[in-house]
Amino acid sequence: MYFREHMNKLDKEGSLIKVKKEVGVDIEAAAVLKAVEPSPLLFEKVKDYPNFRVAGNIFCTKQSIADYFGIPTSGLIPKLTEAIDNRNPPEEISDAPCKEIVMEGVDLNKLPILKHNERDGGRYISSAVVVTKDPELGQNLDFHRAMQFEATKMSTRIIKGRDFYKFLERAGELEAAWCVGNTPNVLVAAATSVKTGINELEIANALSKTQVTRATSVDLLIPAGSEVVLEGRVYMKDRSTEGPFIDLTETYDIEREEPIFEVKKITHRKDPVWQALLPGALEHKVLMGMPREPTIFKSVNEAGVKCLDVNVNPGGSSWLHAIVRIDKQNEEDGKTAIHAAFAGHRSCKHVFVVDKDIDIYNSLDVEWSMATRFQAERDLVDIGKEPGSSLDPSAEPGTKITNKIGFDLTAPLVTKGKSFARAEFPKVDLKKYIDE
Ligand SMILES: Cc1cc2nc3c(=O)[nH]c(=O)nc-3n(C[C@H](O)[C@H](O)[C@H](O)COP(=O)(O)O)c2cc1C
Repeated sequence: MYFREHMNKLDKEGSLIKVKKEVGVDIEAAAVLKAVEPSPLLFEKVKDYPNFRVAGNIFCTKQSIADYFGIPTSGLIPKLTEAIDNRNPPEEISDAPCKEIVMEGVDLNKLPILKHNERDGGRYISSAVVVTKDPELGQNLDFHRAMQFEATKMSTRIIKGRDFYKFLERAGELEAAWCVGNTPNVLVAAATSVKTGINELEIANALSKTQVTRATSVDLLIPAGSEVVLEGRVYMKDRSTEGPFIDLTETYDIEREEPIFEVKKITHRKDPVWQALLPGALEHKVLMGMPREPTIFKSVNEAGVKCLDVNVNPGGSSWLHAIVRIDKQNEEDGKTAIHAAFAGHRSCKHVFVVDKDIDIYNSLDVEWSMATRFQAERDLVDIGKEPGSSLDPSAEPGTKITNKIGFDLTAPLVTKGKSFARAEFPKVDLKKYIDE
């Protein structure tokens, strides 16, 4: 199912907020989206853009992504692991929705690109899946925010180490397509960090059937159901100021000189819907953090500890914290899991390992296990200083050196004093006592 069809389904189910009042793309739309987060919302009338509708908050929660795949949230880690391991080339079609309309000339001012906040450097595309290709390594999918600074040009943030960065370093300049308006098969696949050379569209297709089509002016296969596609070239040495912009940690990222994306062609579906994605907000977080959970899960299990679940939670900016639930069999399991979790997600700063009776989606429960089961001298693992995340404002500027710490919040297997088990009250049938 494509983005639009999924949105229509949400509408039929009654879970889509529809705003009929005209809204502006300059701050106003973002402010409304933030106010209703995590509810999905569609702006039906967009000031200055009568041909477009704007939708946002469509995939703000793991539940919304699990619902798209028709599975429980507990099935997301196995589903993503399976898709990464058993990739599957997508079907190529020629008559694709994303090419229904080819815009005449290129003028980015004709797209309802949002400015999200007063201090932002400009109007930003934040939801696009970026398709690029290296002549030898093949296609890659990434996310790269892009700030408009001219009618045909944007500056785009490409972090060193990303596959796109590696491709650009080799080629100097590359064809690229920014694809806006996609579903979680494509979005989540693009957010995974897999071995360079793996085409994430094959992961997307393994997650759920994905069709691709050849772009109109660049030699790239793009998600066929995208609402809007911006085709063009990115230049490594040709740079322009990018930023400030709100990052995953909800703090402002700095201005930098970043590569220019020159847009040469724009295509879109009939009656296009522009997908907005609020920077630093829940949708950004869930897409960043969720694809790291399978890698941590795998790493902990491979270290010989029975890992039951992992939550890279929004409280930790969906990047800097990992909560790992284990079935503890040996006294050392908590500490072993801490080291393995850091190996599974190098940007993580704090790892919390809990027993199987703890609900890792309830921060009060996790805190309870820290309050009742943790002794710093025995259970704190100080990894010391290591490279962490460039997104963390407390990491050393420039080097991203950070102090990584693990918290073993599991109870000792042998209880010497009070029991660590939570006392349960008897269950009753409330209907017997309280009239509905
Ligand atoms: C919503 C969203 C926005 C992102 N924005 C950027 C960005 O602007 N620049 C960047 O380099 N990475 C950004 N990322 C991260 C990467 O694109 C993403 O982690 C990707 O998996 C890296 O893939 P690679 O390992 O194939 O290079 C973003 C991720 C998400 C989910």
